[in-house]
Amino acid sequence: MQLEQKNVLLGISGGIAAYKTPDLVRKLIAQGANVRVVMTDSAKEFVSSLALQAVSGNKISNSLLDEDAEAAMGHIELARWADIFVIAPATANVMAKLTHGLADDLLTTLALATAAPIAIAPAMNQQMWAAPATTENIQKLQERGVLQIGPASGEQACGDIGYGRMVEPEDIVSFIADYFSDVSEADAIFAGKKIMITAGPTREALDPVRYISNHSSGKMGYALAEAARKMGAQVTLVSGPVSIKPPANVDVVSVTSAQQMHDAVMGNIQQQDIFIACAAVADFRLADVPTHKVKKKEGTLTLSFEQNPDILKTVAAQTNPPFTLGFAAETNDVEAYARNKLERKKLNMIAANDVSSSELGFNSDRNALTVITTDNKISLPAASKYSLAIELLKLLNNEYSTIQNNKKSK
Ligand code: C5P
Repeated sequence: MQLEQKNVLLGISGGIAAYKTPDLVRKLIAQGANVRVVMTDSAKEFVSSLALQAVSGNKISNSLLDEDAEAAMGHIELARWADIFVIAPATANVMAKLTHGLADDLLTTLALATAAPIAIAPAMNQQMWAAPATTENIQKLQERGVLQIGPASGEQACGDIGYGRMVEPEDIVSFIADYFSDVSEADAIFAGKKIMITAGPTREALDPVRYISNHSSGKMGYALAEAARKMGAQVTLVSGPVSIKPPANVDVVSVTSAQQMHDAVMGNIQQQDIFIACAAVADFRLADVPTHKVKKKEGTLTLSFEQNPDILKTVAAQTNPPFTLGFAAETNDVEAYARNKLERKKLNMIAANDVSSSELGFNSDRNALTVITTDNKISLPAASKYSLAIELLKLLNNEYSTIQNNKKSK
C-alpha cells in the first residue's frame, strides 16, 4: 500500500468529472490513505455527498457555517490534519479563486488555511482550459508550488475534443503515491549536512541599463535545492536572476553578477559539507562598465572583456574543500569535455548534460545526465529535473560517504 496512513483531504468542485470521485476515494483508501472530503455547493449537483460519505467512512464537509461539521472537526483542524490537499476536479472557477486567494467557501478557505501541499486536477471545457485567464492562473499557481495533475486530452462531456478532461482516478492516485514516495524514499540521508548550491544565470552589466546573460532557467539548481532539503540537508541556494519560486525552507541568497555570486559563495563556504555548482556563470565581464548609458552611434561597437573568477575551481582549490559537484553543459563530445573539467578543476564529481537537444536541458523541465567521478561513469536517463535531482543526490551521497569513510580509516 503506497499511501499507508497518509491523510488525504479531497476537495471536489462542480464539474461533470465529479461523478468519478467516489471511485477516486475508494482507490485512495485501497492504498491505505485516510480520506476526508470537502465539496462545493455545485459539486453536490454532480455527485451525492451520501455516496462519498459511504466510501470515505467520514462525514462530508461542505460549509464553513455548518455547526455539526465544525464541532466534529473544525476547518482549521481539517487544514492541519491534511498531509496533502487534492482538488479534483478543479474547475476554472476554483482555480481562479485559488489564484486570487478568495475564501468564500470551505474548499477555498482550506486552501489558504493548510500548510500541506496542494495538488489540483483541472477539469473543464477545452476552450476554457485554453483561455488566457486560465493559462495565467495555472502559471501563478505553479509558481507558488501548487502541483498540477493533468488535464488529459480527449473527448469531453460537451462533445468537444481537446485538453481539459480530468485525469483518471488511478492516475491521480499514482501521482499522489509518487509524490509521497520520493519524499520518504529519499529519507534524511543528508541530516546534519550543509549543502550550498549555485543556480541560474549571471548577468554582466554593459552599462547601467544593459547586460549580457544566458538562457539558464535555474530549474535544475532549484530542483536540487528542493530535493536536498527533503533529504534532510540545510540548504543555501545562491541564485542568479530567475523567474521561478524558491523551494520552502531553503536559505536563498540572490545575486546578479558572477563576482557577486563568487563573493556570496566564498563568504559562507567554510561551513559547507557539499558544494554543488549548477549556475551558468558568465566567464567574462566588461572590463570597465560605463557609469552612463552608452549612446547609439554609427559603425561598430567594440567591447573589452576580462575574466570572471571561476567559483567552482576556487572552492575546489581550498585547503579543506567541501565535496564538490560541478555541471558541464556541452553541445558535443560531452563526456570527454566533462572528464577534462573534472580533472582540471579538481572536482569530486561532474554531471554532464548535452544542451544541443532543445527537448532537454537549459529551459526544459526535463534533463538527462552522465555522472562522472575519477573511476566511475553512470548515466541517468531523461526524467523530470526533480526526479533527476533525487537520483543525482543519491549518487553524490554514495561517493561522499566513501570519501568520508576513507578519511576516517586513515
Ligand atoms: O568551465 P565551465 O564553465 O564549463 O564549467 C562549468 C561548471 O563550473 C559549472 O558547475 C559551473 O557552475 C561552474 N562555474 C563556476 N564559475 C565560473 C564558471 C563556471 O562556478 N566562473
